[in-house]
Amino acid sequence: MKQQLENIRTQALAELAAAATPADLEELRVKWLGKKGELTAVLKMMGKLTAEERPVMGQLANAVRAEIEQTLEARKTAIHSAVLEAKLASEAVDVTIPGNAVTLGHQHPMNMVLDQIKEIFVGLGYQVVDGPEVELASYNFTRLNIEEGHPSRDRSDTFYFTDDDSVLLRTQTSPMQIRFMENNKPPLCMLAPGRVFRKDEADATHSPMFHQIEGLVVDEHITMGDLKGALVAIMKKIYGEDSVMRFRPHHFPFTEPSCEMDMQCHKCHGTGEVDGAVCSTCHGEGWIELLGAGMVHPEVLRGCGIDPDKYSGFAFGMGLERMAMGRMRINDLRLIFDNDVRFLNQF
Ligand code: DAH
Repeated sequence: MKQQLENIRTQALAELAAAATPADLEELRVKWLGKKGELTAVLKMMGKLTAEERPVMGQLANAVRAEIEQTLEARKTAIHSAVLEAKLASEAVDVTIPGNAVTLGHQHPMNMVLDQIKEIFVGLGYQVVDGPEVELASYNFTRLNIEEGHPSRDRSDTFYFTDDDSVLLRTQTSPMQIRFMENNKPPLCMLAPGRVFRKDEADATHSPMFHQIEGLVVDEHITMGDLKGALVAIMKKIYGEDSVMRFRPHHFPFTEPSCEMDMQCHKCHGTGEVDGAVCSTCHGEGWIELLGAGMVHPEVLRGCGIDPDKYSGFAFGMGLERMAMGRMRINDLRLIFDNDVRFLNQF
């Protein structure tokens, strides 16, 4: 029996030393120390020993069991840290490798200018509204006093959806005046930016889709003086306090009187010439057109249920691309819509 126990010790310790994984260890634990294990089998034979032999063998058996248990624990710790080390090594991160740069985008230059314009108008008490791009001809033309047969209604200028020319892509943001006056009572103060569509060939200053910003103010005693004061103040905020503005008479069917507002060219200061050559910014005009405006036509007010004897108002419509090109010195409209990052990154 002594020999048996010695054998168990030697073999168990040798096998434990060779174990490489936690599963190996568990298998060996069951094999050597388990209820059906080798050691238990030997202990079961203790009953056959003499009274003198029994304590001696018992002591030896306990010593062998203790030694196997200790070795098992030691191997467990060793294997555990070996596994951990292998894991750490395989998952190691080299913090000195250069990372993948995250490139941050920014707002499109058009939105930058639009946000700035909106902020100024909101500060003056204007309500910013949105409306449909697919519009009824009655809103886009008829109720704005634009008669049948007017050139802007022509099929060569306007995108129509229906054969009877009653549904179209809006050619201007002015129909928002009608929509707003239908649903709101004076005093009212509205700003309506949005896309408009015309059958234009794209070139440096034209695009079949562009943006307008419509403005409308209606209250008692609104005069052309209010129109001029408001628009000059707004443009000075956008283009700088030293910018010079002028108003020219013009004609729009939905305003009476009507005008256009120009800004003195910032490049040639109104002379139309730079170093003896025609100014490339204003094409020798000395002035840059900013917007159309006027006093809301009494017929337009009446058509929206507003009494023109009690109320009056002014309206204006400006081109956002034109404003952005002036503000950011962009010389070709198509660049704004190309979405070429080499262009966009400059802003
Ligand atoms: N809708 C006009 C256009 O597209 C611009 C315009 C002129 C708007 C006069 C107005 C206005 O509100 O009063 O050319």
